[in-house]
Amino acid sequence: MIEQVNIDHLLALAKDMTKRSYAPYSHFHVGAALLCDDGAIYTGCNVENASYGATNCAERTAVFKAVSEGYTHFMALAIAGGPEGEIGDACPPCGICRQVLSEFCDRDMPVYLAKADGYDEYTLVQLLPLTFDLLEK
Ligand code: THU
Repeated sequence: MIEQVNIDHLLALAKDMTKRSYAPYSHFHVGAALLCDDGAIYTGCNVENASYGATNCAERTAVFKAVSEGYTHFMALAIAGGPEGEIGDACPPCGICRQVLSEFCDRDMPVYLAKADGYDEYTLVQLLPLTFDLLEK
């Protein structure tokens, strides 16, 4: 289990992933970097679709990549996003991504949101106070 989160590294990876974003409809490019409990990092970008509804957010791309490789517990998440990938204001995760994160992450997991001048930091429970949960945790 890793003890330290390299916030700058995680944010840099999230920002870099905005370049992989497939967003021909919204032109809103998002990247995410998810730190696993052993120090592995999985990244993701948003992948849009002509149907709009089939679009997958960057955060869920990162979570699903990690879970499909055997990771089910995460330590930190960084998110970066903006129009054409220009990072200005913080890009908070959508409600569906918050619910997906709550399946695998502790309530106090830090979420770092990149901004033009640094980052904002939240815990998952701040972003989603009332989680829908069927499992004992
Ligand atoms: N998007 C994300 O990737 N993550 C979020 O949490 C918010 C929204 C994407 C979905 C869509 O491709 C674009 O941003 C505009 O909504």
